[in-house]
Parts: sequence; structure tokens; C-alpha cells
Amino acid sequence: MPDVFAAFDAHVRAREREYVDELSALVRLPTVSAQGSAIAETAAAVLGRAQRAGFVATAERVSGGPPTIIGEQGSGDRTLLIYDHYDVQPPDPLEEWRTPPFEPTIRDGSLFGRGTSDNKGNLMARLQAVEAYKATVGPLPLRLRILFEGEEEIGSEHLAELVRVHADRLRADGCIWEAGYKDAAGRPTVSLGLKGICYVDLEVRGTALDAHSSVGGIVPNAAWRLVWALASLKDESGTIIVDGLMDHVRVPSAADLALLRALPFDEAGWKRIHGIDGFVGGATGLELKRKYFLEPTCTICGLRSGYQGQGSKTVLPAVASAKVDFRLVPDLTPELVRSLLRAHLDSRGFTDVAITPHHGERPSRWPSDTDVAKAAVAANRATYGTEPVVYPLMAGSGPMAQVCDQLGIPAVGFGSGNAGSANHAPNENIVIADYIDHIRAFGRFLHAFAGRPM
Ligand code: BES
Ligand code: MN
Repeated sequence: MPDVFAAFDAHVRAREREYVDELSALVRLPTVSAQGSAIAETAAAVLGRAQRAGFVATAERVSGGPPTIIGEQGSGDRTLLIYDHYDVQPPDPLEEWRTPPFEPTIRDGSLFGRGTSDNKGNLMARLQAVEAYKATVGPLPLRLRILFEGEEEIGSEHLAELVRVHADRLRADGCIWEAGYKDAAGRPTVSLGLKGICYVDLEVRGTALDAHSSVGGIVPNAAWRLVWALASLKDESGTIIVDGLMDHVRVPSAADLALLRALPFDEAGWKRIHGIDGFVGGATGLELKRKYFLEPTCTICGLRSGYQGQGSKTVLPAVASAKVDFRLVPDLTPELVRSLLRAHLDSRGFTDVAITPHHGERPSRWPSDTDVAKAAVAANRATYGTEPVVYPLMAGSGPMAQVCDQLGIPAVGFGSGNAGSANHAPNENIVIADYIDHIRAFGRFLHAFAGRPM
């Protein structure tokens, strides 16, 4: 069978320099949604770039949210929705970067800069792939729709409303989600959903003011109250013991377990990367994979109380607070977790622990036999010449339920990152060869999803 993608690949490879320059220009914009910086500027740049790639596109806003790019081009029996976000995480801690976060730099075949992996790289690669497809393979064999948002990294507060208002411009038969990473052994991965998230602040206000710690035997201490409350959420084997929470976790099906058994997981590599000599509760093998992919988490993300300065200060702190996130699997929702958490704390007398909700996202999980999942697997196989690893869920989160569950669009994820891409961390990067491969895979994916033979 003649390889219809030979010309496509040659076209893409000849443009590596140009493609990376274009991505670098986008990474140079400091689009930190948490700080509201460069949002309008980046939205305008992304809109212009999408239009140049042939999309009839507009920037839309609802209820004071940031601009969201919606667009369309091509025609055919099938419609594919492409979801990406143009905002990035704050670059802190700045002193840990070898080169500045918003001055993209190539070192040893990798491009370093905030957003190269999460998620400006995938966004740009996909627009470049669409152009390359039209230039070499032919007219688009399907209808493409884009949804590029600017507040993913702060919880996509306005997206559900935007999707509702513009549903007719977003409906599709399948959706390609933003992210995807090669695993630690360099194998391409395809994922079938995202975990949800429920992020909360827990705060205890005890005494009217900080007190001399000599009163510690008789005056209640906010920090102890918080520590006891936190300790009631999870036991030392790592099991979440919030009353009733685990009852809502779907029991893995035989198909789920088969997927997990087939899934390679580099335990030694993980231990090396994290500098640990064992996993929580001593889990290994299938149990470890089940926990990572199919179970919720309860994580103390931050903890604050009392004196943190040099030396000592004998003080009984008036206030203690913690930031806690729960990553959610079906059938947990943020609303359910918040109400279970409140009831759990109240029933133990922790009515003094205030819960302030931050962002919440529902989990979203799709079967492995949808057309869009099959096209993703076929495209990765054709690109890399190996079978991709299929993840039942990504351990990260995002507004997939707001988009795909709301509109009934099966989703799949694969992308240009890798296990060392340092998302959200200093020295975020992608390997340039992986970036080019994602463009190659994405062209094949369009073809496969349109039902064309490869
Ligand atoms: N691209 C990530 C999601 C992700 C992370 C997928 C790791 C797979 C593995 C996304 O940009 C992200 O960071 N999402 C946030 C969402 C939160 C702010 C609501 C997350 O997961 O923390
Ligand atoms: Mn992110």
C-alpha cells in the first residue's frame, strides 16, 4: 500500500525550524491565567494563527471570562473537536530555571519554556498538522472544530456556560483532548479520560489572637485541631477514610483490569524520579496501577500555621489552614466530595474546620472502542511503528466533563510531551523530535478518524 503520508512527513520535517520558531513566539507570551497576564494578547495571536490555518473562527466571552477561540473548517461525514488551552501555570520558582521561562531556548534537542508541553505545544502542533495535511494529502476529509480556552490552569470557571451558549458550534463525533505524554520508557500513550478534582481550603480559627504557648495545656490550639481533622481523612496505609467516599468509586470491570494488566508501568523509574524507595502502602504491580489510574486521591497540597521563621518562637497559633485536593474517578463529583467531607468532619466534632471550595471538575471517562479512540491508536501505531500504551484515565484533570460529557462527545488524548516534560515545574520542555512526531501523528489521526485507509 502506498504511504499517503510520505509527502506529509517530508513536508513536516522540512519545516521543523519554522514550526519551532512559531511555537517559540507563542511561548514568549507570558500567558499566566492565575495572574491574568497576556491573556488578550495571546488570544489574539491564537485566533490569528487559527484563521491562517483556514479556520473560520471568532473569540467569544461569557460573564467576564477570558476570550475562548471557537472555529471550524472542512466538511465530511465526521466532525472532530480539538480542545486545547492557551494559558499556562505561573513560572515560579524563577531561580530554578536554567533559562528564563518566557525566553524559549533549545538545549540538546529540547525546547525549554513555560507552556512548551502544557499546552501551547500541542495547540500549535495541531494547527501546523492541519495545514500540512491540506498541503500534501488533500482537502480535509472531515469537519474540524476548535475550542481553545484561556483559563484551564485556574479551573475553567466560565467554560460550561460558554459550551452551553455555543453548543451548536462545538458538537462533534469525537474530541481530541489537549494533553498526552510519552511514558518514562519513551512509549507513546493514548488516554481515555481525565480524573476530576475537588480542591478545598480547610481553616481553623481558634483563639482570638496568637497566645503565649505556656497556655497550651488548657487553651485549644488551631494547629492541633487542623492536624487531627486532616488525620481523620486518610489512614497510614494511604486509604481515604472520609465516611462513604470510597463507596462511590466504581468497581473496575474485567475490561478495566485487562487494560491495566497490559499496561507497562516502570516502577523503578518512578522511584528514581521521585527519590523514594517504595510506594504508598507498599503497593506494586496491578494494585499500584489500579490505585494510580482508577482510584481517587486526597492530597495535602499546602499547610500553614504558627511561626515559620528562623529559630524558635513559643506561640500558640490562632489560625491554621491547609489546601487539600481530591482527584476524582467515576462516580465521584466535587459537590459530592464536599458534602461527604463536611458530614465527615461534623460527625467527629470538627465543626470548627471551615471548608472553602476552590475549583472543581468532574471526572470524564470514555470506552476504548469509540471511533475516536480507535483512530488515535491507529495513528500512533502508524507514526511510531509500535503499539501505544492505552491509559484508562489520565491522573491529571481538566474540563473534559464540561465539554465532552455536556455535549456527549467521546474523547481521547495524546500529545507531544514526555515523562520528563516538567509540567507546572521549572524547566518545562518538550523534545523537538516528539513535537514533530505529534504533528505526524495528528495528520494521520485526522485521516483515520475520517475513515480513510492508512
Ligand atoms: N495538562 C494538564 C492535565 C494533565 C496533567 C493531564 C498531568 C495528564 C497528566 C492540565 O493543564 C492541568 O494541569 N490541569 C489542572 C487542572 C486544575 C487546575 C483544575 C490539574 O490537573 O491540576
Ligand atoms: Mn496544566
